[in-house]
Amino acid sequence: MDLQILDHRLRVTSISKNGLVNYTHPLIKLIFLRNRTRCKFFSLTETPENYTVVLDEEGFKELAPSEHLQVESSIWLPLNVASNGNASSSSQAVGVTKIAKSVIAPLAQQHVSVFMLSTYQTDFILVREKDLSVVISTLNEEFNIFKEVEGEYVPVGCQDFTNVVQPTVHPVLIPLNQFCVMSLDPDTLPSIATTLIDVLFYSNRFPADLLFTSSSGELWRMVRIGGQPLGFDECGIVAQISQPLADGDISAYYISTFSFDHALVSPEGFPMTPVAIETKLYLGK
Ligand code: ARG
Repeated sequence: MDLQILDHRLRVTSISKNGLVNYTHPLIKLIFLRNRTRCKFFSLTETPENYTVVLDEEGFKELAPSEHLQVESSIWLPLNVASNGNASSSSQAVGVTKIAKSVIAPLAQQHVSVFMLSTYQTDFILVREKDLSVVISTLNEEFNIFKEVEGEYVPVGCQDFTNVVQPTVHPVLIPLNQFCVMSLDPDTLPSIATTLIDVLFYSNRFPADLLFTSSSGELWRMVRIGGQPLGFDECGIVAQISQPLADGDISAYYISTFSFDHALVSPEGFPMTPVAIETKLYLGK
């Protein structure tokens, strides 16, 4: 299997709920007017606590510093597993479940803190730039690693490390909300732009008609991880959740935000999820 180190240097930031009005102008530019910025990586997640914005250095320049903007001090690099029709796995599972054993667990064992951003298409594993050599030496056995340099992928080589950590067990919360996971062709963005602007900046709920455009109509459930904000230094949180899900072959997307982590679990897998995670919690003690 191939692992790609994408050529983006990312910042992890958060905008406070009532500070959003101060950032409407740059956010509209970053989300809808893509050719007006040089930003190539952008992610926005709204949670009840705040807005998490992950973006490259070009995009970051658009966000003026203020009391409403919190910025994690490190540069993060996105890793991406290229699934080249991996025949060794019989699993049909999608999302973080697919990479739990090959990527997430080994990195946690080497004390590497990650920040996960699952999307419809792929799962980005963000690691701190300073951890890159440990990441490469850890994942080198399992993967052919390529680094993106000016649009080309060049192979990377390396050395070795070993260590084991005892993870902290964080409380989990399972809200009643249901989630629709979908993707859209960037060309169709203008046709839903007004709806998205309304959802993002002017209204508190998601319009029901937009929710049911998914072809499968599947609704995913969320597990939120963390009682107190998780911070950025601790490792093994994603591993703790994704391992038992992988053991149960339960598909899940995983989205880290500035304060908490979130696993979105497939409707089929959801009934087994509380038991799967709880079992792991017992084992963790
Ligand atoms: N660093 C954690 C891990 O390696 C995941 C991110 C938790 N922190 C956060 N702010 N969401 O498992």
